[in-house]
Amino acid sequence: MNKISIRIPFVDLKIQHHSIQTQLQQAIQDVLEKGDFILGQALSDFEAAFAAASGTEYGIGVASGTDAIALGLQACNIGPGDEVIIPANTFVATLIGVLHAGAKPVLVDCDPQTALIDLEAAAKAITPHTKAIIPVHLYGQMVSPHELLDFADTHKLLIFEDAAQAHLAEREGYRAGSVGTAAAFSFYPSKNLGAFGDGGMLLTRNLDVAQKMLRLRNYGSSQKYVHIETGTNSRLDTLQAAVLHQKLPYLAEWNSDRLNIAQQYDMELAPLAAAGIIPMQNQSDTGHVYHLYVIKIDDSCPLERQQIQEQLTAAGIQTGIHYPIPCHLQPAFTNLGYQQGDFPQAEKLANQILSLPMYPGLTNSQIKEVVATMAFILSGETQQLLHI
Ligand SMILES: Cc1ncc(COP(=O)(O)O)c(C=O)c1O
Repeated sequence: MNKISIRIPFVDLKIQHHSIQTQLQQAIQDVLEKGDFILGQALSDFEAAFAAASGTEYGIGVASGTDAIALGLQACNIGPGDEVIIPANTFVATLIGVLHAGAKPVLVDCDPQTALIDLEAAAKAITPHTKAIIPVHLYGQMVSPHELLDFADTHKLLIFEDAAQAHLAEREGYRAGSVGTAAAFSFYPSKNLGAFGDGGMLLTRNLDVAQKMLRLRNYGSSQKYVHIETGTNSRLDTLQAAVLHQKLPYLAEWNSDRLNIAQQYDMELAPLAAAGIIPMQNQSDTGHVYHLYVIKIDDSCPLERQQIQEQLTAAGIQTGIHYPIPCHLQPAFTNLGYQQGDFPQAEKLANQILSLPMYPGLTNSQIKEVVATMAFILSGETQQLLHI
């Protein structure tokens, strides 16, 4: 089988790392010299810096975004007997986090224009056991803070943001991570702010939540060898924090590069609307941080999503699908009792969405090439395309 050479990757992290390589190496060297690998100085420095940048008070670094959700919910006193509302079309980690906290995930549908949680559907899912809602700021766009705060106030629910894809996103004057009681972030390498491995953080302005989270990530320890709750071992490595802290000052610039790329895609793709290629809606103006640039291939398109994706791959253009199977249809979660048809918008989106290459450093000519290749595929001249 011929190996297809990648002309435009889905993500390219080398560009950002090369631009600050000396700084990154120095930060790593500093930790090696100090030797404070666990709960070291660079961790507390980064926790404070990231919390401040996100417009909130306390940051508690953990091993992953999934742990930030699981432990963060427990730090908010959510657990067995509680129901937590989440969107069906999120990454499974949101759901897994709720389960690990011992609570029951209650899934709801999403808005087909933005893929963000549908708050009207959420209102209908509330029961006397509902304790919290997890808005997922999917693809880098925040769920409307005004609507969320109204919703939480009306129904007396706690807001726990899943901001894994939305570092420094803004909407209606709020930053991601500053709207709810607490918020979870992921520093998975390809995230807008990514580590050199796994990592995550809980942000909160609530001191009790912060203190409980500090214990939970460190074997439930209040002081050395005194354990007042079970907890676990889930700490963000000092080395990872040092790397992330070096990257943080560049994040706003990288996010604005992502926004420019998205605007360029929007412009280039406009003529393909007639062929059923529709970008997901940006309802937050310049505050969308475009972790992913997602288009819908709707029913009016002459080709199936799979055909388009395969032909882009054949032309050396990598794409992704976020996510091809909604949470309620994942084999692991059949015991939650959901079935096909329960969340029609999420199910439809799962079949229609396609994520195009997106990363700081993607050039205008590469964007033009992605769109021109799509136009070419749609025009049916696929045989020629394969021989480019
Ligand atoms: C929406 C969402 N929630 C949670 C997570 C979990 O983060 P992690 O991979 O760091 O555990 C991710 C990222 O993978 C995510 O995209």
